[in-house]
Amino acid sequence: MKLGTPLTASATKVMLLGAGELGKEVIIALQRYGVEVTAVDRYENAPGHQVAHKAITIDMSNPVELLRVIKEEQPHYIVPEIEAIATEVLAEIEDQALATVIPTAKAVRLTMNREGIRTLAAEDLSLPTSAYAFASSAAEIRAAIEDGIGFPCFVKPVMSSSGKGQSLLKTEEDIDLAWRYSQEGGRVADGRVIVEGMVNFDYEITLLTVRSKSLDGSIQTSYCAPIGHKQKDGDYIESWQPQPMSELALKNAQKIACDITEALGGQGLFGVELFVKGDDVWFSEVSPRPHDTGLVTLVSQSQNEFELHARALLGLPTDTKMLSPAASAVIYGGMDAKGISFEGLDRALNIPQTEVRLFGKPESFEKRRMGVAVSTAEQVDMARARALDAAEKVKPCT
Ligand SMILES: Nc1ncnc2c1ncn2[C@@H]1O[C@H](COP(=O)(O)OP(=O)(O)OP(=O)(O)O)[C@@H](O)[C@H]1O
Ligand SMILES: [Mg+2]
Repeated sequence: MKLGTPLTASATKVMLLGAGELGKEVIIALQRYGVEVTAVDRYENAPGHQVAHKAITIDMSNPVELLRVIKEEQPHYIVPEIEAIATEVLAEIEDQALATVIPTAKAVRLTMNREGIRTLAAEDLSLPTSAYAFASSAAEIRAAIEDGIGFPCFVKPVMSSSGKGQSLLKTEEDIDLAWRYSQEGGRVADGRVIVEGMVNFDYEITLLTVRSKSLDGSIQTSYCAPIGHKQKDGDYIESWQPQPMSELALKNAQKIACDITEALGGQGLFGVELFVKGDDVWFSEVSPRPHDTGLVTLVSQSQNEFELHARALLGLPTDTKMLSPAASAVIYGGMDAKGISFEGLDRALNIPQTEVRLFGKPESFEKRRMGVAVSTAEQVDMARARALDAAEKVKPCT
């Protein structure tokens, strides 16, 4: 294992595809090893652009543009941070061994589409999931519900994230609206949705799972302590670690995480989303990259999820040890405006064992995540109270 010097001929070069707040932290972790980083995003001055050696702005879903920048920059590793990428280009790059795609081109392709990942999990690997069916019209949604999925159920565009285009259906009357909403909210208007029966879970977790290389060259799978989280309108608003779980539930969760990440392959950190009721665990979905709910690891672990991803992708050993219970709370923009300011950071940071990260996004939207507060404490409850209090004290203003 060998790393070069950035900006020289020996440089170890990484290209981040997506340079939001999660990519920014991965870049910082890579920079600390002297890795040369190029950050790509669809808009200028994205958070990760601001800390990388080089910033590039293109539409990453455009295969011609994506292939052009990869060929120009010749990175050793390509690290996707978002889902909306021309994945056929990544497959081509991987086939020709021009760069290593993290974790693999297949993982990136399958997870960007709910149909790909759900079929792999439920049909190929027989993992427990909600009841589901795919549909391409309101009539097909109705048929799927009548055929056994029933109410309540969710309708989600197969290509979407952060709850976009997603509805919870309670009665027959909700079907038409859910279909129309899914067609407006999806990433591509290809008309395909998944209909998912509602899992009546006690709580949901993200199990951060790392596939990293040990010194003998074998791949080893390790797990962070489970992260509990609260979702609102398809976005997480609060997360904490550890989420208390029964021993059996944790064992079931780790088994599911091991199976799905092994099937996706490669090296890196994955965010495995699971629903838990008693000792039973259902697979929901997986990100082949750091997960937003894992922002809590900025303070809870000796190696946070971004450092774990950086180490794993470079072929370095990892340690998922948690140091302290902790929590994170999201800071929203609260307004639609460019170049906003934040007041109250002094009051927020006066709270014990608390940190705030402001992402530096050039434009704020009412519901855009602009920062996060993270706190540790002896107990999760206290950490949650501190993080919420801190997030509340940071006030976006013009
Ligand atoms: N089948 C289900 N049963 C119960 N709750 C569900 C189900 N599907 C989704 N949810 C709830 O909605 C949330 C968002 O769903 P999902 O993760 O599929 O959407 P997403 O758009 O991919 O969101 P994100 O990008 O934030 O992960 C879940 O975390 C869960 O709280
Ligand atoms: Mg999700």
